Amino acid sequence: MANTRLAVVAMLVILLQLSTLSVARHHAKPDPCVGEDDSVPGMVHKHKKPHCPSPGGSGGGGGGGGTPGVMTVNGFQKGEDGGAPSECDGKYHSDKDMIVALSTRWYAGGRRCGKMINITSKKNGRTVQAKVVDECDSNHGCKTNIVDTTEAVWKALGLDSDIGEVPVTWSDA
Ligand SMILES: *[C@@H]1O[C@H](CO)[C@@H](O)[C@H](O)[C@H]1NC(C)=O
Repeated sequence: MANTRLAVVAMLVILLQLSTLSVARHHAKPDPCVGEDDSVPGMVHKHKKPHCPSPGGSGGGGGGGGTPGVMTVNGFQKGEDGGAPSECDGKYHSDKDMIVALSTRWYAGGRRCGKMINITSKKNGRTVQAKVVDECDSNHGCKTNIVDTTEAVWKALGLDSDIGEVPVTWSDA
């Protein structure tokens, strides 16, 4: 029965080749998680990533997202820009306070009065908290995406208020 034996051996060889092929193919498949490291032959993976890095991972770590807006500088003291005392409490505030006025739709009819919000500068990624005390009235010239803050907030963010406007994101703290 040498023929049968030969056939079995031949089949084993074929099977072996098939499995080798499939393994090779599997390895050739581009792995979406592997970076440019693989293109360097013989290079040892120093830091093997346990899982795929999330796309666009360079954004702010925890928190993430927030509402995009434009931060402007405002005075909340008597005799400054707004002229009137703050909408929330009918008082004037020191420009040394970490306070903010929000566009009408975000002011939400006073629902955010006294609440803290986080403001993150898109320029440098820094975040500070400020208290909502006023409305930036979108029915009277204020745009709808304004985070209007004191000099103190600008300083805390490490920004020069002379710039006048910077892109930020904000969220309820
Ligand atoms: C707001 O910022 C503070 C500190 O800067 C942080 O502890 C808090 O988690 C932030 N809140 C949100 C909702 O991101």
